[in-house]
Amino acid sequence: MTDERDLHVYLLPELAPAGALVGGVAVAIDVLRATTTIVHALAAGAGGVRPVAELDEARTLADGMPAGRVLLGGERCGVAPPGFDLGNSPREYTPKKCRDTTIVLTTTNGTKAILRAAEAERVLIAAFANYSAVCEQLRHDARPIHIVCAGTDGDISLEDTLLAGALVDYLAEEMEVHVNDAARLAWDCFENHGRILLGALEVGKGGANLRGLGYDDDIKAAAEVDKFNIVPELRRDPLRVEIGAVGIVKSRWNR
Ligand code: MLT
Repeated sequence: MTDERDLHVYLLPELAPAGALVGGVAVAIDVLRATTTIVHALAAGAGGVRPVAELDEARTLADGMPAGRVLLGGERCGVAPPGFDLGNSPREYTPKKCRDTTIVLTTTNGTKAILRAAEAERVLIAAFANYSAVCEQLRHDARPIHIVCAGTDGDISLEDTLLAGALVDYLAEEMEVHVNDAARLAWDCFENHGRILLGALEVGKGGANLRGLGYDDDIKAAAEVDKFNIVPELRRDPLRVEIGAVGIVKSRWNR
């Protein structure tokens, strides 16, 4: 009999074997930028975010919702697709635009990671912006933990691995955990890069893509630890992300 909790990291959604998340609590991560943007949008007063994989599906869903109460947001190749109200910059999701709206969001990697994580019983959305609030939720949840990183265009990403490692670092201090190899790799990554967070976010492939598009400020926004105390959580029927919990007992960031 052991009290060890399984703590598994998947550095890409496709590295999570089918069925592995069933019955667990999953954490979806796309630091640059989808999960950071979702945290900003909900903190700005959006009632919910509907994560959608494909552009056509997103357009059809938004078209079927009451005008004035829905915003179509997201990106392809980093920029807002034609006809979209918003791109994928956290800074675009202001209270003025978001209050009392539903955001239909489709992004290249992030929304797909959320949809993969939906296999779990409970799904939390994590960014550096709500790091300690997510730590609190995981501490009180007895289920096996599965951290699903979005990556960048099929490649493992430094920034998602870094946040996964920061969560592993906290959880391994707090409780007895049984980690997979990817969790150890992520933890090592956090040991090395956690002190130079902004620099690490800038230097990875996702960060370089964003800098090339002039979105340097989005990287800065993504590197702001604990800006918010909300934990977005996936709800079902229909599938949507809403604020699930609010509050930080204390900062869990140790860098
Ligand atoms: C994604 O989901 O692929 C990202 O959030 C990419 C981006 O923001 O440009």
